Amino acid sequence: MPAPNRRHEYHDSVLLAETVALLAPAAGKTFVDGTLGGGGHSAALLEAGARVIGLDRDPEAIAYATQRLAGYGDRFQTVRTSFAEAGAALDKLGFASRLPACCSISAFPRIRSIPRSAASASCTTGRSICGWIPAGPITAADLVNTMSAEQLERIFRTYGEEPAARRIAAALVRDRLVQPFTTTLQLADAISKVSPRRGKAHPATRVFQALRIAVNRELEVLESALNEFAARLEPGGRFTVITFHSLEDRLVKTHFKNHSTAWLNRPEWPEQRRNPDCIFQKVTGKAVAPSATEQRANPRSRSAKLRVVEKL
Ligand SMILES: C[S@@+](CC[C@H](N)C(=O)[O-])C[C@H]1O[C@@H](n2cnc3c(N)ncnc32)[C@H](O)[C@@H]1O
Repeated sequence: MPAPNRRHEYHDSVLLAETVALLAPAAGKTFVDGTLGGGGHSAALLEAGARVIGLDRDPEAIAYATQRLAGYGDRFQTVRTSFAEAGAALDKLGFASRLPACCSISAFPRIRSIPRSAASASCTTGRSICGWIPAGPITAADLVNTMSAEQLERIFRTYGEEPAARRIAAALVRDRLVQPFTTTLQLADAISKVSPRRGKAHPATRVFQALRIAVNRELEVLESALNEFAARLEPGGRFTVITFHSLEDRLVKTHFKNHSTAWLNRPEWPEQRRNPDCIFQKVTGKAVAPSATEQRANPRSRSAKLRVVEKL
């Protein structure tokens, strides 16, 4: 049984109607939901008669969605895995061939408050995004207590888009000489002292986002998922991705552009050349944003963007 206090995390499926309209679910089609969560997107696909394989790395989400969607019988299956390893999971289910359609939902909603667990968030897999972030399990505390001011500044600027990155990094390197950082509160206090509050957000919000992205290697995981799903998709199958912050959206936008541009043109070439990486065509020109009504009803949806491509 899922813990009841997790339910609130699952109840709002972002861009649901838009995603379903673009995927056109029907009996005989199979979808992979890369971030099953509470199963809201999957439920809509199942309701239209499709088959769904729901992936999630969180056992509570799997338990919750399994219970919620039990009525759909064997049209619904789950696999506990990271979407970055979707290919291996689908192989185990016997999907050696390609999928008729595919739906991956990006899973990193923007942090609106400072999570207590951020300083101890651990990383379990993956090569480093930046060469100097050590491979293997690391924590936010490891980064804050050991990296140089330049390295911290780069993390805060790149992953947090933090304008005061240099000032904050210098302050943390100074403060840790007195006492290493062991709690999120200690870190949030140190940041508040050197970075004034801008608007409603806590001054440490961007730094916490940056540390979370670095520790979990979120962009790298997302990139790997894009490749895994693309490789599995059948011609004509659609691939939808919802992102929740600009770094993710930029990554998805660039990935889709690089793989949907048919011809390449460089000044040094006498004529344009076919793009060997072109495997998609775009379905929507711009990213789809939630309607004003959805944004009012669910403020967490405000930063969401949906991009869609179709396999050639
Ligand atoms: C916002 S919920 C998804 C909501 C869902 N689409 C719905 O309509 O109910 C995000 C889910 O993504 C999962 N998730 C995050 N990162 C993941 C990853 N790398 N691989 C698989 N699942 C992931 C989380 O565990 C969480 O359950």
